[in-house]
Amino acid sequence: MAMSTPNLQTFPDLEALTSAAYTFVLDQAAAALQARGQFTIALAGGNTPKPLYERLASADTPWAQWQIFWGDERYVPQDHPDSNAGMAMAAWLNHIPIPAANIHPMPTDEPDPAAAAARYEATLRHVLAAEADAIPQFDLILLGMGPDGHTASLFPHTPALQVRDRLVTLGNKDGQPRLTFTVPLINRARQILFLVTGANKQTALRHILRRTGDPHTYPALLIEGQCTWFLDQAAAEGVTANSQ
Ligand code: 6PG
Repeated sequence: MAMSTPNLQTFPDLEALTSAAYTFVLDQAAAALQARGQFTIALAGGNTPKPLYERLASADTPWAQWQIFWGDERYVPQDHPDSNAGMAMAAWLNHIPIPAANIHPMPTDEPDPAAAAARYEATLRHVLAAEADAIPQFDLILLGMGPDGHTASLFPHTPALQVRDRLVTLGNKDGQPRLTFTVPLINRARQILFLVTGANKQTALRHILRRTGDPHTYPALLIEGQCTWFLDQAAAEGVTANSQ
């Protein structure tokens, strides 16, 4: 089957991928700042983007014009080692002169995570100035991908994959609640940048980039917006392999 041609670049290692991602993010920021005076970005969790965040800590950009969100979150306090917000704060955001009001971690203090998802949706609508029935448009959404083909906290065969009438919903990682952007919100972004490393992602990546898999099995197939994929060599070998 013909593969749609996403913008795909392969790098020898994480360091080279990080340098390219750093340039990509700052280029998107510069374009958004020039066009609209504001840059809205949603961050990914996981290990792959951490060196990018560390590098961004010394970038020269008007931070006060950035609005920073997260595309998914584990339902733990920010000082918990699993917190995506906590990781980005420690690696990057604690080290730059950005107003606290421009940093929007997903709330994890509601007894009911569904209430936290609704609160975050309201925050998104407010900061991105979206009408009640409109889908706000991020300038850039960063995403990772797991070996099972999940992205954000859209895990295989979970109800979150089918949510189309919300911006933020509940993910489910082996019974643990997560908060996650929904498919329509992600797909509406001006740019989506996937950062994918590691040989254990080859099989999922092959199905996703060749668009041969089932989206309930490989949720990243649901992401059909303006995507760019940055892969390391280990992950990319799966895409060019002939085997299924
Ligand atoms: C998270 C994520 C998740 C992540 C992938 C890839 O909170 O875990 O946002 O979607 O991006 O699991 O993670 P790695 O980069 O660590 O492989």
